[in-house]
Amino acid sequence: MESLVKEILACTKCQLWKTRTNAVPGVGSRECLMFVGEAPGANEDIEGKPFVGAAGKLLTDLIKEVLGLDRSQVYITNLVKCRPPRNREPTDLEEKTCWPYLQRELEIVRPKVIVALGRHSSSYLLGKIGVTFKTMEEARGKIHAFPILGSQVPLFSTYHPAAALYNPRLKDILVQDFRRIKTYLGGGIDKYLG
Ligand code: URA
Ligand code: SF4
Repeated sequence: MESLVKEILACTKCQLWKTRTNAVPGVGSRECLMFVGEAPGANEDIEGKPFVGAAGKLLTDLIKEVLGLDRSQVYITNLVKCRPPRNREPTDLEEKTCWPYLQRELEIVRPKVIVALGRHSSSYLLGKIGVTFKTMEEARGKIHAFPILGSQVPLFSTYHPAAALYNPRLKDILVQDFRRIKTYLGGGIDKYLG
């Protein structure tokens, strides 16, 4: 993991390195739940850590209040490790160029459950297993098997916390989906911790 982090911090494989302040590798525990966002925003770019802004606060609150876990007990990362300028969406080429880093994180962390947050990480990860992504509305709440080094790991999709910040309807759905994850994990949530 140390060498992976070093590589990400020094990466110049796509154009996003030119405008970033810091590349943002994932953080957290191993062999636990893994949350995959889209790309760093302004706060994450400055701090070099994922989900530390307003969307990050909502994610941290959901992890705490719905799942009953501390942020440090899960792994949090992004599909793309550098901030796209003016928070535009990452391009297909940027996602494809950055993918090997997420792939290596998946292999090192060996998550017990993957939670894709939002359209980009959902459609990218579902695409990897040959599932066509149509809309978030259709993809959310479903579970697919995602292979990591020969194991089948459950993959959930839900809305991105940033989308729910100013949309109470989406926030309700996000809470419902986190409850569903909790139900799926069952009482024995301990076995999903690193
Ligand atoms: N949004 C993301 O997708 N990732 C972050 O790290 C922060 C906001
Ligand atoms: Fe490298 Fe990914 Fe950053 Fe592009 S977004 S420079 S591929 S770490």
